[in-house]
Amino acid sequence: MKSKVMAIVFHAHGVPEEVAHAEEIEVAEPGADEALVRLLAAPINPADLNVIEGKYPLRPALPGVPGVEGAGVVEAVGADVKNLRAGDRVLLPHGYGTWRAAGVVKAENLVPLPPEIPAAQAAMLRINPATALRMLRDFTELKPGGWILQNAANSAVGHAVIQLARASGWRTVNVVRRAELIDELKAAGADAVLLEGDGLPEQISAATGGAPIHLALNAVGGDSALRLAKALAPGGTLVTYGAMSRQPLRLPNGLLIFQDLRWRGFWISQWYRTAPPTAVAAMFAELFALAQSGVLHAPVERIYPLAEAAAALAHAAQSGRAGKILFGGEA
Ligand SMILES: NC(=O)c1ccc[n+]([C@@H]2O[C@H](COP(=O)([O-])OP(=O)(O)OC[C@H]3O[C@@H](n4cnc5c(N)ncnc54)[C@H](OP(=O)(O)O)[C@@H]3O)[C@@H](O)[C@H]2O)c1
Repeated sequence: MKSKVMAIVFHAHGVPEEVAHAEEIEVAEPGADEALVRLLAAPINPADLNVIEGKYPLRPALPGVPGVEGAGVVEAVGADVKNLRAGDRVLLPHGYGTWRAAGVVKAENLVPLPPEIPAAQAAMLRINPATALRMLRDFTELKPGGWILQNAANSAVGHAVIQLARASGWRTVNVVRRAELIDELKAAGADAVLLEGDGLPEQISAATGGAPIHLALNAVGGDSALRLAKALAPGGTLVTYGAMSRQPLRLPNGLLIFQDLRWRGFWISQWYRTAPPTAVAAMFAELFALAQSGVLHAPVERIYPLAEAAAALAHAAQSGRAGKILFGGEA
């Protein structure tokens, strides 16, 4: 028997708060190998807004339900499901369309969650902390006490980079565009926090005492990325994973010819598509342990009910937030 639940649906691409609205959608009974999952929490990430705008490589069929990640609780399971039961908390599948009060999912695609991780924190583990962890591990071999440089340091990824680096014995130089974040990020574990601007490469060198920096993480693009690249040691790697300024990268020939910089990119969706299942399972186990121990903790600005879609989406698109905007009811 089918029932109806609230979901956020977009029928056309455009400005998120204008084209995505709360409406009722049908939910079927779970089949033999499926589970019915009720949403606990799902964040609004920049990529979700880009999907609704039609500016992202993932393009769900329209009308579509946005939401790449989220956490839920199992309400019922089909006859053949042995690894889950009602009441279990789970991570929803990558790109599921999580902004719905409930949905039916193949049980094998659900990741059981330790019950101790608060729902909102669990809901934000799949994308941003995973991206931070992969970028810190997969591009360079960082030595104990080594430095990492990043822009957009106040983002969810930026916070995860600071937290993971500190836990691993690496140090971070963090670039932000608002002075009021300097003390806040230092209190959160950042070793150095600097403001975007022309004198940045010299300030970075002063902050590290001239120590070489082999890894820089770029989520902004344009001039900001160039400033990071100029601060890298010869042979260093700049990993671009976001383009918040929507400005293209400019690559001076000399940085490649004379500095031999590595100019790389990273996309977590591609990592999930290509990584062996054992590597994915190992990463989730690590992320869950780090969230349980409190090493990983993502700031939350506000949690909205699905019915307040327009307000939530407009809020998520604002600059100067102190943390993520989520849908859901439980913190
Ligand atoms: N490639 C991947 O696999 C992957 C995975 C995760 C995230 N990402 C990307 O990483 C970026 C950060 O995501 P998130 O979820 O961590 O972000 P978030 O928590 O929503 O925060 C957004 C951050 O971007 C900054 N920002 C916004 N517009 C900017 C601009 N024009 N110039 C400089 N900074 C700007 C904000 O600065 P203020 O604090 O000053 O407002 C804030 O720190 C996004 O581009 C996202 O798409 C990519």
